[in-house]
Amino acid sequence: MNHDLYKIIFRDIYKSFEGKKVLCGLNLDIKRGETLVVLGRSGCGKSVTLKILLGLLYPDSGQAYVDGQEVTNLPEKKMVQVRKKIGMLFQGSALFDSMTVGDNVAFALAEHSNKSKHEIAEIVSRNLEFVDLAGSEHLMPSELSGGMKKRAALARAMAYQPEILLYDEPTTGLDPITATTINALIRKTQNEYGVTSIVVTHELDSGFSVADRIAVMDRGQILEIGTIDEIRKSANEFVQTFIAGPK
Ligand SMILES: Nc1ncnc2c1ncn2[C@@H]1O[C@H](COP(=O)(O)OP(=O)(O)OP(=O)(O)O)[C@@H](O)[C@H]1O
Ligand SMILES: [Mg+2]
Repeated sequence: MNHDLYKIIFRDIYKSFEGKKVLCGLNLDIKRGETLVVLGRSGCGKSVTLKILLGLLYPDSGQAYVDGQEVTNLPEKKMVQVRKKIGMLFQGSALFDSMTVGDNVAFALAEHSNKSKHEIAEIVSRNLEFVDLAGSEHLMPSELSGGMKKRAALARAMAYQPEILLYDEPTTGLDPITATTINALIRKTQNEYGVTSIVVTHELDSGFSVADRIAVMDRGQILEIGTIDEIRKSANEFVQTFIAGPK
């Protein structure tokens, strides 16, 4: 395994829930600094894959690595250290509804860093500005539109200056213009911070607009991986049907 080239590696991951096979020998390598999009139908196992990387779920067999360190079956204490490298934008954005936007963004820093209140406030302000929500610290999540929530969630995911960003369906449920804004923000985050990103989505437009490479997933396996061009030229029948979109 080439850990110099690949920041994240999944090897032969199997995962079942109550006898139902969800991941069936998943192999996936994510290069340092790239944005890799995992495209696949609803229920194919995308969110489960991300949760395994975060140590929120354990595979039945197989390994996942971050920077050459195996994260599957890592004791919780060590997993906490790995999670500090990873920012996650959860499906549905999942802000804490009872906290202001500012406290949401500050949350991980307040919990896990030794930074002063003043330093944290500065980071929060900078991150909100980055996602074009400057000055919205005092707002409650209920006061935000869907697109604003996603942006606030991105500011929160970035607060810890993660090396890795995981996006779970970042544009699902948004109107096309708002989705375009989020896609641009994903690109901007990669360009300005050099992060390694995995974007999982079943939205083709979004996937194609942010990807350096695309992996097409079906029934718990990666069927094809490559540049946008390579995916378009794929000989795999499922891949062709999937990227052709709904008839
Ligand atoms: N904690 C769990 N317990 C039991 N079954 C689960 C659990 N998490 C996921 N599953 C099942 O695993 C399968 C894959 O789920 P997953 O959430 O990874 O799909 P997905 O590809 O992210 O779909 P979507 O695009 O709709 O978000 C589904 O059938 C789901 O019901
Ligand atoms: Mg999902």
